[in-house]
Amino acid sequence: MASPCKSSISLFLSLSLLLVSCAMEEADILLTFKDSINDPFNLLSNWSNTTAECDWTGITCTASSISSINLISLNLSGEISPSICQLPKLAHLNLANNIFNQPIPLHLSQCASLESLNLSNNLIWGTIPEQISQFRSLKLMDLSRNHIQGTIPKGIESLKELQVLNLGSNLLSGDVPPVALGKLTQLILVDLSQNPLMVSEIPGDIGKLKKLQKLFLQSSGFHGEIPPHVFEGLKSLVILDLSHNNITGTLPEFVFSSLPNLVSFDVSQNKLSGPFPNGICEAAKGLVNLGLHTNLFNGSIPNDSIKQCMNLERFQVQDNLFSGNFPSWLWSLSQMKIIRAENNRFSGEIPDSISQAAQLEQVQIDNNSFTSKIPQGLGLIRSLYRFSASLNGLYGELPPNLCDSPVMSIINLSHNDLSGTVPELKNCKKIVSFSLAHNNFIGEIPKSLGALPVLTYLDLSHNNLTGQIPQELQNLKLALFNVSFNRLSGRVPASLISGLPASFLQGNPDLCGPGLSNSCSEGKTSPKGINLSKLESVLISVTFVVVILIIAVGFHMTRQSRKQRSEMDGWRSVLFYPLRVTENDLMMEMSDKNARGNGGIFGRVYTVNLPNGELIAVKKLMNFGTQSSKSMKAEIKTLAKIRHKNITKILGFCHSNDAIFLIYEYLARGSLGDLIGKSDFQLPWSVRLRIAIGVAQGLAYLHKDYLPHLLHRNLKSTNILLDADHEPKITDFALDRIVGEAAFNSSLASDAASSCYLAPEYGYTKRASEQTDTYSFGVILLELITGRQAEKAEFGEGSLDVLKWVRRKINITNGALQVLDSKISSASQREMLGALEIALRCTTVVPEKRPSMFQVVRILHSLDSRSKLTTIY
Ligand SMILES: *[C@@H]1O[C@H](CO)[C@@H](O)[C@H](O)[C@H]1NC(C)=O
Ligand SMILES: *[C@@H]1O[C@H](CO)[C@@H](O)[C@H](O)[C@H]1NC(C)=O
Ligand SMILES: *[C@@H]1O[C@H](CO)[C@@H](O)[C@H](O)[C@H]1NC(C)=O
Ligand SMILES: *[C@@H]1O[C@H](CO)[C@@H](O)[C@H](O)[C@H]1NC(C)=O
Ligand SMILES: *[C@@H]1O[C@H](CO)[C@@H](O)[C@H](O)[C@H]1NC(C)=O
Ligand SMILES: *[C@@H]1O[C@H](CO)[C@@H](O)[C@H](O)[C@H]1NC(C)=O
Ligand SMILES: *[C@@H]1O[C@H](CO)[C@@H](O)[C@H](O)[C@H]1NC(C)=O
Ligand SMILES: *[C@@H]1O[C@H](CO)[C@@H](O)[C@H](O)[C@H]1NC(C)=O
Ligand SMILES: *[C@@H]1O[C@H](CO)[C@@H](O)[C@H](O)[C@H]1NC(C)=O
Ligand SMILES: *[C@@H]1O[C@H](CO)[C@@H](O)[C@H](O)[C@H]1NC(C)=O
Repeated sequence: MASPCKSSISLFLSLSLLLVSCAMEEADILLTFKDSINDPFNLLSNWSNTTAECDWTGITCTASSISSINLISLNLSGEISPSICQLPKLAHLNLANNIFNQPIPLHLSQCASLESLNLSNNLIWGTIPEQISQFRSLKLMDLSRNHIQGTIPKGIESLKELQVLNLGSNLLSGDVPPVALGKLTQLILVDLSQNPLMVSEIPGDIGKLKKLQKLFLQSSGFHGEIPPHVFEGLKSLVILDLSHNNITGTLPEFVFSSLPNLVSFDVSQNKLSGPFPNGICEAAKGLVNLGLHTNLFNGSIPNDSIKQCMNLERFQVQDNLFSGNFPSWLWSLSQMKIIRAENNRFSGEIPDSISQAAQLEQVQIDNNSFTSKIPQGLGLIRSLYRFSASLNGLYGELPPNLCDSPVMSIINLSHNDLSGTVPELKNCKKIVSFSLAHNNFIGEIPKSLGALPVLTYLDLSHNNLTGQIPQELQNLKLALFNVSFNRLSGRVPASLISGLPASFLQGNPDLCGPGLSNSCSEGKTSPKGINLSKLESVLISVTFVVVILIIAVGFHMTRQSRKQRSEMDGWRSVLFYPLRVTENDLMMEMSDKNARGNGGIFGRVYTVNLPNGELIAVKKLMNFGTQSSKSMKAEIKTLAKIRHKNITKILGFCHSNDAIFLIYEYLARGSLGDLIGKSDFQLPWSVRLRIAIGVAQGLAYLHKDYLPHLLHRNLKSTNILLDADHEPKITDFALDRIVGEAAFNSSLASDAASSCYLAPEYGYTKRASEQTDTYSFGVILLELITGRQAEKAEFGEGSLDVLKWVRRKINITNGALQVLDSKISSASQREMLGALEIALRCTTVVPEKRPSMFQVVRILHSLDSRSKLTTIY
């Protein structure tokens, strides 16, 4: 390869001609470099000899010599050719965020002027060879986010000029050499984080790096104790992250007084123990105690001792074994934003001077041994949005200004010894989650809680609250409302009783309402009803019903086939809801003429009109396998306790040895699948989006909120029922738990209508997961977006399921617009395209890439321009 300014240049040429000639050659060098690179999107198209190379994409020149090549995020692959080392002034090479797939290009060490090499986020593999020492002139080496293996070689100590060393997010293993990094005295940033295979002690010589500002060692298998004097030399350190390792022992003495510039301190999720070291910011502590703290900022007090810690913004020590007094000076630092110390054994008090921490945003000290009143000062901080201090020994009354911060969203004070009344919280316009459970609060639930616009989680359980549940709470869109185990009385507001699990009301014997043991009927004594906590008593109260049922079933069955005769033996019935029903009619109604749809797997669904005009839906499950009837009953009871506005309620069931009739609430509009199947299907986008959000919420609830966590396993549009307001309710969930795995799988396999909702991996793993449910949800979302049924035979195209159809369309230009249901006005196009993107993410082939249902809920909410609801997820 020719070198620049080759000798063919005539002696007679002027200096300017000489420069031009050099520049020409630099262009050739770049074109040679380009030749070995794959550029699939032709993004380097303007690298061509018709223009000056200093104007080419990614090229920067200094004094008309190329000094920097910056080709980030261009999907480049191929070979990083050493030819560019012929560029005499090349100082910066940044090829980050591409797909170069090769070992570390050692030959670049021949680039005489190279100062920074950034190969972050490629597919670089192999080990770091000792020859890495050849990069003597490098100041910046970023090899993060690749697949580099092996240990860090001692040869790295030769890179004396190095200021930035980033080896984070690789597959490095073994030990960091104990003496090596300490020799790189120019280092400003060291990142060895996210190398999960590493097993190393923290190299003690890091303490020599006087210029080091950022040290990232999180999530990299560091173990052992923090070397005792390591922090003493790190005078410039601003960010320290040792979180998520296996570090043991105590924190070194003087940790903070050694680190005067520290802004972020994170040692969370380790095994650090013992009391917090003294001798840190002692001066600040003294001043706090003297009440002089407000003067800290005006410089009238000696500098050094005070300046320590004053820059601290984040203090994270959660999930360790720390004990002893929590350093009280930390509470009042003027720059502090985040204090997280949960899951330790700290004791101590929260001082009123916390109000000095005027930037404080987040305090989490749950699960410690703090014994303290909650100071008034807390309510003076205007930026605080989260205060959670559950599982401590906090006592006394709540200050009335507790929630005066205009951004306060989460308060969790459960499991303490707090007393007095529940404050009015009138200023609390942003509160989403409020828990005072397991304390000693007395008095009534304030009506004003009903006026908090975004309150979603309210837990007042296990207190000593009296009076009625205020009607005003019905205004809230509560996802959790737990007042169990108080002394509340009176009629429960209707929407609170129907929308939420009965267990959230239990332990208040004087509450009444439908479904509770006390049904509120005035005058005459009501029949003893059904209480979820005493399910067995139900059996007694419905014995007479069962007798009738047996007769009715027998009668009904004899009119059908003899084969089913055994069904009528030993019928038993369990109701979770006071159905006013003569079961005779119930069974008689279960004839073919009332069957709806094909009933999905296992059996059919019947609509049964009860004599009082009430309608119920009854699902017949047949052929369930080896599941014992005891465990089967237990499973149904578990499922029946679910109360969520997007999940169909199970009102009860009756069963024999061969069949189960599950009784569900009836929903007026039938299933979403049937609706979409109609030729005149037409719903505005806002309604479709609301349906999608409802289904996602119901599913997220099953996955994460309900205990035990459940999988749906057969989600499809015919299992989404709609009420009169088009509010969706998921049905047929978790049937595997009732019939057993084997029977469930064989039924699923025989149900062709389910097949296009099944995630591809289910075909070979037969393992259901949250991700397989997410996939099914994605298919339903596509049905809503396109207005097409999931599986639809189409003339000429044969049967093409909605996902394949969408994938084919969107590959062509403007295809995404073509899949949107043309019956919807283009005003909704932006939202629909957003939903399409989510649907495609939910249905990606790689299960790990699918979002969780909580993420889906959040994104769908954000699409809904009408929704003002903030969620805490
Ligand atoms: C540019 O490169 C092409 C192909 O390498 C060559 O044929 C052409 O002569 C070059 N043009 C100039 C101005 O150097
Ligand atoms: C080459 O493309 C880059 C980025 O699009 C642009 O900034 C530059 O001006 C282009 N150069 C020429 C010579 O067209
Ligand atoms: C790189 O490729 C990916 C996937 O092929 C694509 O999503 C992305 O837009 C491409 N980037 C550029 C800059 O073209
Ligand atoms: C490397 O390049 C990427 C992409 O531009 C950038 O995010 C990263 O900060 C760079 N690394 C360093 C150490 O500057
Ligand atoms: C801590 O060590 C244990 C056992 O040595 C290991 O299983 C675990 O993965 C380590 N944790 C971290 C965060 O490295
Ligand atoms: C700082 O505070 C002290 C004590 O209140 C006061 O005497 C002094 O004037 C203040 N200095 C400044 C510069 O505000
Ligand atoms: C306090 O710090 C300031 C600026 O950092 C400096 O100018 C001043 O001399 C220091 N005073 C003392 C007493 O150290
Ligand atoms: C409380 O913290 C301890 C460690 O100090 C931990 O073992 C325990 O699981 C935590 N309890 C809860 C409820 O998180
Ligand atoms: C409040 O804290 C308790 C105990 O740590 C925890 O179980 C509960 O989930 C928390 N509640 C909310 C709404 O975060
Ligand atoms: C509830 O309050 C009543 C009367 O104020 C008191 O007698 C009772 O002990 C309290 N119960 C609990 C569990 O604190």
